[in-house]
Amino acid sequence: MATINVGIIMNGVTGRMGTNQHLIRSIAAIRKQGGVALPNGDVIMPDPILVGRQESKLKALAEANGIGRWSTNLDEALADAHNQIYFDSQTTVLRAAGVRKAIAAGKHIYCEKPTAGSLAESLELAKLARDKGIKNGVVQDKLFLPGLIKLKRLVDSGFFGRILAVRMEFGYWVFEGDWQPGQRPSWNYRKEDGGGIIVDMFAHWRYVLDNLFGDVKSVSCLGVTHIPQRVDEQGNTYDCTADDAAYATFEIEGGIIAQVNSSWAVRVNRDDLVTIHVDGTEGSAVAGLRDCKTQHRVNTPKPVWNPDIPNPFNFLEQWENVPDNQVFDNGFKIQWELFLKHVVIDTPFPWDLLEGAKGTQLSELGLQSWKERRWVDVPELTL
Ligand SMILES: NC(=O)c1ccc[n+]([C@@H]2O[C@H](COP(=O)([O-])OP(=O)(O)OC[C@H]3O[C@@H](n4cnc5c(N)ncnc54)[C@H](O)[C@@H]3O)[C@@H](O)[C@H]2O)c1
Repeated sequence: MATINVGIIMNGVTGRMGTNQHLIRSIAAIRKQGGVALPNGDVIMPDPILVGRQESKLKALAEANGIGRWSTNLDEALADAHNQIYFDSQTTVLRAAGVRKAIAAGKHIYCEKPTAGSLAESLELAKLARDKGIKNGVVQDKLFLPGLIKLKRLVDSGFFGRILAVRMEFGYWVFEGDWQPGQRPSWNYRKEDGGGIIVDMFAHWRYVLDNLFGDVKSVSCLGVTHIPQRVDEQGNTYDCTADDAAYATFEIEGGIIAQVNSSWAVRVNRDDLVTIHVDGTEGSAVAGLRDCKTQHRVNTPKPVWNPDIPNPFNFLEQWENVPDNQVFDNGFKIQWELFLKHVVIDTPFPWDLLEGAKGTQLSELGLQSWKERRWVDVPELTL
């Protein structure tokens, strides 16, 4: 029973996602649980080196998480053969340069979405990775949410019959930063810094729709900047140059229609921050982050439109919860464990840079649809 130490360069680890999801909830948690067990009894132990710009921040973060290695010198970390994986959760505009460098150094790549700021760049990274023969993966965390796992269970069981339509509501109020600090980084609201909800969220919606319901075939999208000015982390007012809401419709193979509203300027009056409502001929379901509820054909009440009497139905009580039936771990951690196994024992890992590029493609086509005020088809992506 051997311990296989895998050196991982973690770049952008001081950020919101890097610190919370990738370091604390994933890599540090995997180390704490004793690594990733392999079928032959061996164990993969991730050995991260935290890379960033500010030494004091890196040192504090490393110490708080029991990690002995940090550096402000990416080139040095890349030159060290012990480091087999390069992970990137920097802001989106910085990703391609980091990933390109790491591929050239022969590292396996794992990174946040979107993989780059444009489809051309996302595809270029996927090609470079393929040509270099390195393993690569992109975060597709929503697939590992308990609510979506339950929804996928329903799809796979045939519960819905023929799926007709999907309604997704995503969003919450992101504070403007004046009288209460904003809960998202200010670059999210500046196009020139890689911001915008279409770039951010369509990268998720692509793999969610593709994996749950079928390939996305076309998109119609209306973007908008509802809040024109916000206040940044330093207290300075800035102009919001990126979209903060998108009202989109997607056509999915098999004739399924998906309506997807994404907004950072909406107050939540629904079960969760994202809800996915699916209607099928045999039944319907609504999934949130953790829960999923269903209404089967045989349990469907028959409302009659009559505003002259008080509503006799409590519609929200007419649904039944899908049971957990399994233990759910953090989605980012599950995907990290799968990627580590992919690197060490070559188990399958379908969420690669080409899949990531599909997300960038949908964002780009969504932006095009908005600009040209028309439906845009989604061509198949190949390398
Ligand atoms: N999977 C998800 O659900 C999810 C959610 C939010 C964000 N993200 C993605 O993760 C990435 C990071 O987002 P975040 O919200 O953590 O952002 P953040 O601003 O909190 O963190 C960005 C990181 O990049 C570093 N950075 C910023 N400017 C830099 C520069 N000029 N040079 C070098 N490093 C720099 C920061 O130090 C920090 O470590 C983005 O690409 C975003 O799209 C993914």
